Amino acid sequence: MDERRETSQQTPLGDEGHLDHITSAQAEARLAELADLLARANHAYFNEDAPDLSDAEYDRLKRENAALEARFPDLIRADSPSAQIGATPAEGFGKITHAERMMSLANAFDEADVAEFIAGIRRYLNLPPDAELAFTAEPKIDGLSLSLRYEQGHLIHAATRGDGETGENVTANARTIADIPQVITHPDCPDILEVRGEVYMSHADFAALNARAAQSGGKTFANPRNAAAGSLRQLDAEITRTRPLRFFAYALGETSAALAETQSGLIAKLGAFGFQTNPLTICARSLEVIIAHYQSIAQSRATLGYDIDGVVYKLDDLALQRRLGLRATTPRWAIAHKFPAELAWTRLEAIDIQVGRTGALSPVARLAPVTVGGVVVSNATLHNEDYIAGRNSTGEAIRAGRDIRVGDLVQVYRAGDVIPKIADVDVAQRPADAQPYIFPTICPECGSDALREEGDSVRRCTGGLICPAQAVERLKHFVSRAAFDIEGLGAKQVEQFAKDGWITEPADIFTLEARYGSGIQQLKNREGWGEKSAQNLFAAIAEKRQILLGRLIFALGIRHVGEVAAKDLATHFRTWEMFDAAIRAAMQEPAAHAPDAKSRKKRLEDSPAWAEITGIDGIGDTVATALCEAWAQPREYASITRLVGYLDVQSPAIRDFAGSPVMGKTVVFTGSLEKMTRAEAKSRAENLGAKVAGSVSAKTDLLVAGPGAGSKAKKAAELGIETIDEDAWLALIGDL
Ligand code: IVH
Repeated sequence: MDERRETSQQTPLGDEGHLDHITSAQAEARLAELADLLARANHAYFNEDAPDLSDAEYDRLKRENAALEARFPDLIRADSPSAQIGATPAEGFGKITHAERMMSLANAFDEADVAEFIAGIRRYLNLPPDAELAFTAEPKIDGLSLSLRYEQGHLIHAATRGDGETGENVTANARTIADIPQVITHPDCPDILEVRGEVYMSHADFAALNARAAQSGGKTFANPRNAAAGSLRQLDAEITRTRPLRFFAYALGETSAALAETQSGLIAKLGAFGFQTNPLTICARSLEVIIAHYQSIAQSRATLGYDIDGVVYKLDDLALQRRLGLRATTPRWAIAHKFPAELAWTRLEAIDIQVGRTGALSPVARLAPVTVGGVVVSNATLHNEDYIAGRNSTGEAIRAGRDIRVGDLVQVYRAGDVIPKIADVDVAQRPADAQPYIFPTICPECGSDALREEGDSVRRCTGGLICPAQAVERLKHFVSRAAFDIEGLGAKQVEQFAKDGWITEPADIFTLEARYGSGIQQLKNREGWGEKSAQNLFAAIAEKRQILLGRLIFALGIRHVGEVAAKDLATHFRTWEMFDAAIRAAMQEPAAHAPDAKSRKKRLEDSPAWAEITGIDGIGDTVATALCEAWAQPREYASITRLVGYLDVQSPAIRDFAGSPVMGKTVVFTGSLEKMTRAEAKSRAENLGAKVAGSVSAKTDLLVAGPGAGSKAKKAAELGIETIDEDAWLALIGDL
């Protein structure tokens, strides 16, 4: 209970009389001041037990704030003191769903990749190879991305990228960053404006912060990126305020009005709105100029004063950007041209074998710790037995046939700046007693045979779910971010629970509380758990009983069923029951029992469920086979049904395609299209709520046939399916 409010004296209400004369700009400035004063007062009172204002003064400020808000409701701040009770929440950040998904970037590693990126754009847009295209080129800042939402020119929230769809609400922290305007007064600022950019820390500020931390015996950060991330994600914004963070704006999210016609125009606008934009941004019209800029940025890299890890190219024309659209997580109109990875030599001390979710035996190099690009590396992947032996999967020699042995001096780099890998081995320095590595043929975790199928580079444990390592890896996958994403139940906790036998399969997660009845009592006695975290865990688990079908399918961890395939399946089947029924039907059909893909295809006619699954665009024979194989294993299927019994599976949201003439229709494209490429046609149709299928069946609603359409057009005619040409299709979808 907040005693202060009870003991406070009332001040006369006449205080607010002057409000009639105050201008909106003055009100806004005063509201900002009040938010700041009251936040500090709250912090001092609740978090530090050291009130810095008298009760009377505190109450007067709160009333002044309330009166101003009543008079200027448009100016109410997202961090309004009237909405705040008590201390800042101690348990993590709230979540914010991004109005538009925050994308990441595809990578290019050399000039050829960049040339292919540009050529790919020309192909997608059906432009001649010599058509001029302009691109912006700017440094890729090595920080963390942040989305800022402004409404009527006021910063109302700031969110981290998170999983791209939902991020953490770090508004209070973002308000402490000087580069981030709280208010945009420029007349062109649209009512809704989301600005995206990178939060980073300069080298000088990073060094000073670490020096301060070291002096006071605190934790130091490994690199400026970690320091920026750690500082932005402080639960107490007052700590963030003491950390010198900076921000470069480089893209938009949702906006209520167009800001410009080009990327470069947009960057200029953001500058005019008061954002920092990177001074090394140029607009270039040829590959040569782009590459020259890349080289010039690479040369000045060491003297910039902040970390960058490449150069980002974006197609300048925003209308073309829209036509190109997005892949699952990256736009087609932008690419990150990465700098070559840093290399370091170190000793290989041992080779360990890890058993993965699908039974794959993965060799891991244990290395004498070495710093690579600012991070200490002590493990690296060795891929598979061929890689260690110095061959690729087709038996050809790589590294000129030099094998890798324990004791060798190896060269390490971080692929994509993250995953440590071994680039080379120095056989001249090999110890005399180093022996060729013998890859195990039995699973080191469960003793089952580890077999290698023909044509597969991977050796797999045949133990299935009896292999404890596979079971744990599946559980880890199950709780991972793109799957169930249960707060407080990460890889570490799952490992701990599995080791103690508390959970052996996903369904066990949902019975954890019941089985350990006074589970909280038990859990809170375990190391690393307290009453509060135990309660939170059970609440987080209960919350995830409601789960989107796509996430559930992905979470099952079936081979070849990645996030995109899972989503495609969910979009098509919509409910667990429909999905499950289709696989059970497909398993019984002739196609499922055909020996290979080719003969399965031949049996499509008498295998309607199989045909339906493989007819979903993006889902092929491999995925269908993997699903049927999983369903055919009684233990596996029983474990899946047990799990689903605890869940309330949600259908994917139907986007509001108001006015779309093809919403919910299944469309097939065939023959050659002249006004757009197949890929573009597909993504435009999907953006209008249509399902695009690869083959014609009784479920097809519409066939769009270009010149040269063959068997599909014939089949559509037989089935009486409406068939139109490309022009009619364009007329149908209009300018939507
Ligand atoms: S554009 C839709 N521009 O790189 C495109 N990203 O690897 C959105 N990044 O998540 C990104 N500097 O955090 C863009 N100049 C820049 C960037 C940049 C750094 C980060 C960003 C993004 C990541 C992708």
